[in-house]
Amino acid sequence: MKKEDLYFKKVNETYNFLKKKIPFFPDIIITLGTGLFSLGEKIKKVEVFPYEEIPHFPIPTVETHKGQLIFGYIEDKKIAILQGRVHYYEGYSTKEITFPLRVLTLFKPEIYIVSNAAGGLNLNFRSGDIMVIKDHINLIPDNPLRGISNEEWGPRFPDMSNAYDKELISLFKKTAKELREEIREGIYVVVPGPSLETPAETKFLRMIGADAVGMSTVPEVIVAVHAGLKVLGISVISNVNDPDNFKPIVFSEVVEESKKAEKRLERLIKEFIKKLKI
Ligand code: HPA
Repeated sequence: MKKEDLYFKKVNETYNFLKKKIPFFPDIIITLGTGLFSLGEKIKKVEVFPYEEIPHFPIPTVETHKGQLIFGYIEDKKIAILQGRVHYYEGYSTKEITFPLRVLTLFKPEIYIVSNAAGGLNLNFRSGDIMVIKDHINLIPDNPLRGISNEEWGPRFPDMSNAYDKELISLFKKTAKELREEIREGIYVVVPGPSLETPAETKFLRMIGADAVGMSTVPEVIVAVHAGLKVLGISVISNVNDPDNFKPIVFSEVVEESKKAEKRLERLIKEFIKKLKI
């Protein structure tokens, strides 16, 4: 069997496995990344599937990512949460990374909310800031849509001009204003990792227009846009990298900093979901 055919087969197998077991078809899919798990604990849970019990789901190798798929309600909205993700730096291809999301898109949800921890490149940023993503730059030398196209899933050449939905961004900003939370807006660049950036690389990433750098999210957003979902992306700025005054980036501190913003982000996302008209 060709590699692509095998991928289609696996996606369908997992879709059929879940279809029989899930309590409802979700309207919103959320991916919770590094240090941002608490929202997954606050949801009114109906069903929980550890990733290892779902056929073909990739298993995270990073300790900070538990890995479970949660179905439940936030403000009476039907939600599926991917609590924990795998990354390109773990050795997975971007097709493998996006496998769980691809399966969930077959249930025809409307909205995808994705969060991550990122390094600040914009020197106005501070650690603990919450940044809504307005656009991205893909520096991973791979694309989850590479290979034979399946028109049932989406177009060969998906338009990315409104990848991060403008209406969702403005609703998120409105929510933040009402809750008196200051938020940032910026461009997220993804690097392959796992080594962190050198000062010279940091300078380069600033020059190409990025405000924050991380190692996730972009493959998932490409798949979500391909499947016709509206996307809201949020970065928690865990550290700020100044190329002219470069401090070592300690990954355990990255996780700690992102945890500090957890409560604020949780409140924002809950209120945002409440306002969604779906
Ligand atoms: N660089 C890349 N990825 C990151 C960083 C960083 O500084 N901080 C959190 N994720």
